[in-house]
Amino acid sequence: MVFRTLDNLEARGKRVLVRADLNVPMHDGVITDATRIERVAPTISELAGKGARVVVLSHFDRPKGKVVPSMSLHPIAEKLGEVLGKPVAFVPECVGPTVEAAVAALKDGDVLVLENTRFHAGEEANDPAFAKALAENGDIFVNDAFSAAHRAHASTEGVAHDLPSFAGRLMQAELSALSAALENPERPVGAIIGGSKISTKLDLIGNVIEKVDTLFITGAMANTFLAAEGIAVGKSLQEADMHETARKIAHLAQEKGCEIVLPVDAVVAREFKAGAESSVCLIGEVPADAMILDAGPRTVELINERLATLKTLVWNGPLGAFEIEPFDRATVAVAQEAARLTQAGKLRTVAGGGDTVSALRHAGVASEMSYVSTAGGAFLEWLEGKILPGIEVLRTTGQQLGLD
Ligand code: 3PG
Repeated sequence: MVFRTLDNLEARGKRVLVRADLNVPMHDGVITDATRIERVAPTISELAGKGARVVVLSHFDRPKGKVVPSMSLHPIAEKLGEVLGKPVAFVPECVGPTVEAAVAALKDGDVLVLENTRFHAGEEANDPAFAKALAENGDIFVNDAFSAAHRAHASTEGVAHDLPSFAGRLMQAELSALSAALENPERPVGAIIGGSKISTKLDLIGNVIEKVDTLFITGAMANTFLAAEGIAVGKSLQEADMHETARKIAHLAQEKGCEIVLPVDAVVAREFKAGAESSVCLIGEVPADAMILDAGPRTVELINERLATLKTLVWNGPLGAFEIEPFDRATVAVAQEAARLTQAGKLRTVAGGGDTVSALRHAGVASEMSYVSTAGGAFLEWLEGKILPGIEVLRTTGQQLGLD
């Protein structure tokens, strides 16, 4: 790794600012998924165990530079305490004298969570003065928020210019899993890219076809590719203005030696609702008044057969409208086969992006993949081949230290 990690950190007695991503799903004040808290906990435990005075920074939701009480990190700090199995203090500010006093009162091994950094406009503006104010409360900065690394904000990027900076354990795990999937993968490597619109995933597809041997295009975006080839898709969701682009992508993929696999059959219905009457038809035979809501069984068979020939699989996006039964079947069947191959040691599977994680959970196999990223937008930007500012700053400071 080009950057410093906790292995290089002498933590005892130091005030360590840990940027976590505690932006967890919450409904009516109740945390509905604590994965991000659980995944950052080892870094905090390790630092506290080594005698650091840990000060946790995070954003939560999008309060847009104002104090929004329902977006306080207080309940999340409590949950962090439960997960860590030790008391966690909380201050309802992230800069200023109250924070200074609370940090000064910390003993070695204590953990303190500060209030939502996005309550200040300086956070998203990456205002150097706000970054300095955050940095005042630490001797060292540890970034463990891969899932927020696509944001050039004060607490993800700015503060790394003001303090000696290190990558946390979750950041390390995300980066090594992702690089094993796309940068130095064991070949053949395939990608399942699904979703509803190609217009939102153009950069992603463009980058992925350069890197993978097989690209399975699934979900409603496959309809656009089919329609671009002149195949009737009935009333299915598709982007008529993207046909030319879809054809260009197909041509480019051919040039790069990447095989694009599209569905060969589909589950169609006339209504998009749970339990709607549905039938299976071959692609090319979709009735004019029906819409494609899932991949069909032959497509599942085709993808599953091809998975068995791969060594690495990157997965982003479901195969159909998996949130509504029975249109979850293809996603579930392929997820289960990917999990089986992974568990048998035949396939390395790396998945990420909000919908994908829910889809894998729905299939009951999220814990059976080689790696499931905690990131949504950052995972997508990484798949697009973009430079993530939160990581870039760790890399450049690491390079300056001669860590290449
Ligand atoms: C996420 O949930 O993807 C990250 O926490 C970033 O959140 P944001 O999209 O509000 O910047």
